[in-house]
Amino acid sequence: MRNEFHRRGGHGRIGDSRPVQSPLMHTRYITTPIYYVNDRPHIGHCYTTLMADVTARFHRLILGDANRVFFLTGTDEHADKVVTAASQRGLRPIEWADQNAARFRDAFDVIDSSHDDFIRTSEDRHKSRVTEYLRRLMASGDVILGDYTGWYDEGQEEYLTETTAKDNNFLSPVTKQPLVRRTEKNYFFRLSTYSDRLLAHIQAHPEFIQPEARRNEVLGRLRTGLQDIPVSRAVAGDPADVFGVLMPDAPGHRVYVWIDALFNYLTAVDTPERKHYWPATVHLMAKDILWFHAVIWPCLLMALGQPLPKTVYAHSYWIREGMKMSKSLGNFIEIETLRAYIDRYSVDAMRWYLATQGPMGATDADFSHAKFVEVYNADLANGIGNCASRVAAMIAKYFDGKVPTPRDPDVTLARESDKALSDVIEAVERCDLADAAKRAIRHVSEVDGLIHRTQPFRLAKDPANLEQVGGILYDCAEGVRIAALLLSALMPRKMAGLLRAWQCEAPGDKGAATAPLRDLAEFRGAHAIKPGATIARGEALFQRADPADPPPA
Ligand code: MSP
Repeated sequence: MRNEFHRRGGHGRIGDSRPVQSPLMHTRYITTPIYYVNDRPHIGHCYTTLMADVTARFHRLILGDANRVFFLTGTDEHADKVVTAASQRGLRPIEWADQNAARFRDAFDVIDSSHDDFIRTSEDRHKSRVTEYLRRLMASGDVILGDYTGWYDEGQEEYLTETTAKDNNFLSPVTKQPLVRRTEKNYFFRLSTYSDRLLAHIQAHPEFIQPEARRNEVLGRLRTGLQDIPVSRAVAGDPADVFGVLMPDAPGHRVYVWIDALFNYLTAVDTPERKHYWPATVHLMAKDILWFHAVIWPCLLMALGQPLPKTVYAHSYWIREGMKMSKSLGNFIEIETLRAYIDRYSVDAMRWYLATQGPMGATDADFSHAKFVEVYNADLANGIGNCASRVAAMIAKYFDGKVPTPRDPDVTLARESDKALSDVIEAVERCDLADAAKRAIRHVSEVDGLIHRTQPFRLAKDPANLEQVGGILYDCAEGVRIAALLLSALMPRKMAGLLRAWQCEAPGDKGAATAPLRDLAEFRGAHAIKPGATIARGEALFQRADPADPPPA
């Protein structure tokens, strides 16, 4: 394999470069899977896009620059099941794809996704580049013509290895439908020649596949070796009717939908204006499609001489009563349900629930109304909401609604602010969004703690203490400001609303403010809350929810 690599490496640009991390560490590129348009979006799709959105907003905030982050989502359209779904409705595939791509866009608007682009694989900008990549791979000998016979999972549109097929009793591990024995003349990607390099990369970069349980699974499977994989499918009928990308200079073949789809991450940024975003900082997805992203995709990139993404993160599933949500069980949380929750509790409350209780990490998560209400009351209504309104009420009562003059800073709160800031940034870098959220909301308890320790409402009974009370409330207000900033990637609307009502700088639509988070959220730093600023008291940030209320429908 080494010889093979060196021999081909000497012949041209492809294969020349090692998978090194980009020197352009000052940009971030976050992606979601591109979703199949054979059906409507549901909570699972919204969840991954939301996690990517939170990640992207955090990075924009951390860097203090929206232009240094690129967040991509989109749709995967050239699957056989899209063609079937369209024909069942008497539509051309592109008509059905248009309708459903629009539904995905709408769904992502519902959750306030801040993606910078929405790519569709049926677009020319994508298709023309896929053709170009394949032409290069064919020229370098990484893609060659051969015969393929294997166990095909028709629902998932993928071949399984002999071992996987056997382990699953020749049934699809996902749909449980029988696997089909298929033989085809098609083009192969010589995946096997990259197996050692990939293994070495995974071993040298613990952050490459996350979470760790998934990394171990991939490593285990990789140790049994890699087989070459088909990257084309035979075309029946007129090539002009093909819904997909034709193989370059190879009549009768089209590009296999998974290869076409994986390339979206590169096609979207393969322009002079966007090239610097590559390689991706994190490809997010659920565990169902990790193999494609952690094994096939990096090997394709190596073959193209491209640097590898920093992290491939595969979260677990939203389930319902212990079962994966699936079409056959009809147990999805649909967009309509999400909308009903959003109408009653706000989009930020839904984002908070999904982000803090969802299946980031290696365990599945159950969607539960009781849990939703519990978390909503604890963290939002009684947490940040109550804390902000208490501080505003005291400032209104004792200082006429104007931020009082600071005195010596509260040492504990100052120290905890620094720590919260560092911990949140560190959690985001580890892709541990639930931890970032937990850490941010804990800062609210620190402010509550200061009030509890110092009892400003008691001190205020004696007018001689007013300056001291002012000093305490100044720090409380500053603490709320910092908490709001740290929570803003998760709850952008409410937190921006709160910050603006307190005349503090708020992140813009995409989550970035004018300074990097470390400066912006420095306790009593250059961007601190201004003495004399008016604290507008609006409605409660989050009204308390009654656990006895039935779920919204
Ligand atoms: N089109 C491929 C992906 C190609 S990426 C180059 C595909 N599409 S999909 O529509 O089936 O979307 C799968 C993804 O949707 C999962 O990886 C995950 O991101 C999300 N989810 C679908 N169901 C889910 C749950 N029940 N729970 C959490 N996420 C889920 O695969």
